[in-house]
Amino acid sequence: MKLVNETSLFPLRKGRITRQAHVDLPEGTYEEEFARQGFFGRTTHLYRAHPPTGWTDIEGPLRPRSYDLNRLAPPAAGDRPAAFAPTCFLRNEDVALHWVRPGAMDFLYRNADGDDVHYVHRGGGRLECTFGVLDYAQGDYLVIPRGTTYRFLPGPGPQEHLLIESASEVTLPDRNQLGAHALFDPAVIDTPEPEAPAEPDRPWTVHVKRRGEITRVTYPFNPNDVVGWKGDLTVWRINVKDIRPVVSPRYHLPPSAHSTFLGRNFVICSFLPRPFEEEAGAMRVPFYHANIDYDEVLFYSDGHFFSREGIGPGMVTWHPQGIHHGPHPKAIPASRLKDRTDEVAVMVDTLRPLEATEAARGVENEAYWASWK
Ligand SMILES: [Fe+2]
Repeated sequence: MKLVNETSLFPLRKGRITRQAHVDLPEGTYEEEFARQGFFGRTTHLYRAHPPTGWTDIEGPLRPRSYDLNRLAPPAAGDRPAAFAPTCFLRNEDVALHWVRPGAMDFLYRNADGDDVHYVHRGGGRLECTFGVLDYAQGDYLVIPRGTTYRFLPGPGPQEHLLIESASEVTLPDRNQLGAHALFDPAVIDTPEPEAPAEPDRPWTVHVKRRGEITRVTYPFNPNDVVGWKGDLTVWRINVKDIRPVVSPRYHLPPSAHSTFLGRNFVICSFLPRPFEEEAGAMRVPFYHANIDYDEVLFYSDGHFFSREGIGPGMVTWHPQGIHHGPHPKAIPASRLKDRTDEVAVMVDTLRPLEATEAARGVENEAYWASWK
């Protein structure tokens, strides 16, 4: 992600505009941000007489889409045991999004294809891995580098994770002028403690995924037998409650202000409870845009998602490049009645177009494109 716009002209100005983006829109207009490179490239703000989502019909494959992951059936018995059988719903060459309901695993798993970022939507328990043991809870991100051997030992109750599998190493964005402790202080990160796993002495099988295929490697002992480690490559955990969003009372910050992790050609953002902008002329809901350079996926985890009607926990929206999205009609007046949002949502923006899987098509809300009417 680039944070410097090297090619900017001074903005040209034509017709009815506001000189400060997202503030004091001309009466009766809707603002669209027409922008390259997410929200970092060359940009023009368009002041429109109608919302660009005010279509009456869409023919062809491109449209905003929505999926209800709660309705995904448990995977059919295949080569993945039910205790850890992720269902992929959207993917491209850089990132794959899965829904997984882990059970108590009596085997170990290793992903040789990429890093695994588990967002714990519901549940919690203990993770045993190469680096030791780490307890986890709802709202945690668990960042598991490629090559780590692990298993989940969930506690009681429903267990649901959004699994973001990255073909490249997952890193943190630069904080730049916000300083090293903004969004979260790195001291809130937890890492595994070297500790003997449960059942160290019985035979264990490691299910290694490489190029999507599973190879089983069996040992007469538990291979998670590390008694000490040192270094800066490990599994780590952060809870969304420890991420403190940056806000401005006077200006609607772009989604990029909520970036949590970076991978090659994609970014993971966290939208978390925060006060709304308080100044009268400042926009409170996201501006309209058509994602010129990014596909945009939002996973709704908790709270009331203020800019979307009819969306609840466990649902996903996918706004592909080339077609507009923005707040639902009721969201703009509704946002004026509240002074904060309690939403918890995870966004994945991808440079390369995503494809929906067969599993996603089975739980699609076909009417979503018409929900702006
Ligand atoms: Fe968006």
